[in-house]
Amino acid sequence: MGKETLTITDNRTGKTYEVPIEHGAIRGMDLRQIKVSEDDFGLMSYDPAFMNTASCKSTITFIDGEKGILQYRGYPIEQLAERSTFLETAFLILHGELPTRAQLDEWTYHITHHTMIHENIKKFMDGFHYDAHPMGILVGTVGALSTFYPDAKNIMDPANREKQIYRLIAKMPTMAAFAYRHSLGMPYAYPDNDLTFAGNFLNMLFKMTEMKYKPNPVLERALDVLFILHADHEQNCSANAMRSVGSSHVDPYSAVAAATAALYGPLHGGANEAVLRMLREIGSKDKVPEFVKKVKAREALLMGFGHRVYKSYDPRAKVIKNLAYQIFQERGTNPLLEIAIELERIALQDEFFVKRKLYPNVDYYTGMIYEAMGFPVEVFPVLFAIGRTPGWIAQWQEMLLDSEQKIARPRQLYVGSGKRDYVPIEQRR
Ligand code: CMC
Repeated sequence: MGKETLTITDNRTGKTYEVPIEHGAIRGMDLRQIKVSEDDFGLMSYDPAFMNTASCKSTITFIDGEKGILQYRGYPIEQLAERSTFLETAFLILHGELPTRAQLDEWTYHITHHTMIHENIKKFMDGFHYDAHPMGILVGTVGALSTFYPDAKNIMDPANREKQIYRLIAKMPTMAAFAYRHSLGMPYAYPDNDLTFAGNFLNMLFKMTEMKYKPNPVLERALDVLFILHADHEQNCSANAMRSVGSSHVDPYSAVAAATAALYGPLHGGANEAVLRMLREIGSKDKVPEFVKKVKAREALLMGFGHRVYKSYDPRAKVIKNLAYQIFQERGTNPLLEIAIELERIALQDEFFVKRKLYPNVDYYTGMIYEAMGFPVEVFPVLFAIGRTPGWIAQWQEMLLDSEQKIARPRQLYVGSGKRDYVPIEQRR
């Protein structure tokens, strides 16, 4: 193997430069030395949507999109989904190692005892209109938390950061459940510290007049697994928002509000709902070939298929497909499942999809599962946000402690007009 460097010849000047290659990348700043004259700014790279730009070094999540591999801190997602819990996985993502029994007990204790929200936050949520989308309420309310915890500004104090981490992971489900109950005009159900993380969330969503809510253990475990599967996904749109906003050294509640807002968009956290709509539109198994024809004619997208990074089966979709069978056994089959399976079967054999490496992604089966579990569609992105919170905070903390990071501030290629003089309004056409 040759030297770990790249030699660049600038054909404008004939000059040659040698830049180091590290971890399969060159540093963008190494291009700046490439100039046509002394007063030239230097060469930049142009990469809208970060298609081929690494914005950080990270030790949190590894994805191999070609092979369909997803690992948190080196542990395969399949093993975590089968053997871990969401809180244990959250500890792993944030601390880098699986906890000992004592560490897990302490961690669980702290998260469990930070689930309550201030009564004024409840009043604040009351101010939202009766039909406000739960995700919109969540964006606003998590941002508002920063005014309740002004100490959160001390982001460089590790003990202080740890306290905000407990609060964020613990309070996201409370705010999410309250947002949902608000949209139904139902009284809020307070957290129950005797229950697990997922069990308590179900309690806050669905408790009616019973003295003690007893979560269905199959649904409780399924929800916990779904949270594990969503816990981090390296530099996706919302993680990038978290890092970028956090790089201004704002408090973590404000940065999580930004990440939640990024997740709200239909290109990110909203695809599972679109899959449900698509399957309903197809209507029956025998209409699947007709729909596939439409997709191939570019008249429709096969929602829940394809991914920017995964070019083989999304490993999360595999786990979710198995989970779907367990849930349908418990709650009765979702009639859309038959159509989904047929659509997947036909698409995976069709040259159009094979050639483009289009496989089911995480959203293909989640919508059907959530529906079978009794969640209305508006709650789907909120579920995603609860699961993703440890990932966002881990990305934020890694960014803060990385001596190579600074305030995020991309460059631009200015292509607007040159300098011109102000024209009085009477002289404008
Ligand atoms: N149905 C039909 N054709 C598709 C689809 C699809 N779902 N996805 C991609 N293609 C085609 C695309 O038109 C392109 O064709 P051609 O090369 O002939 O122009 C080719 O496949 C390659 O796609 P791409 O443009 O490289 O894909 P991308 O990386 O820009 O977009 C995507 C990725 C997820 C936005 C896209 O696959 C898509 O729109 N999928 C449906 C929506 C969806 O399921 N989103 C959930 C993403 S996973 C959740 C998350 O992490 O947020």
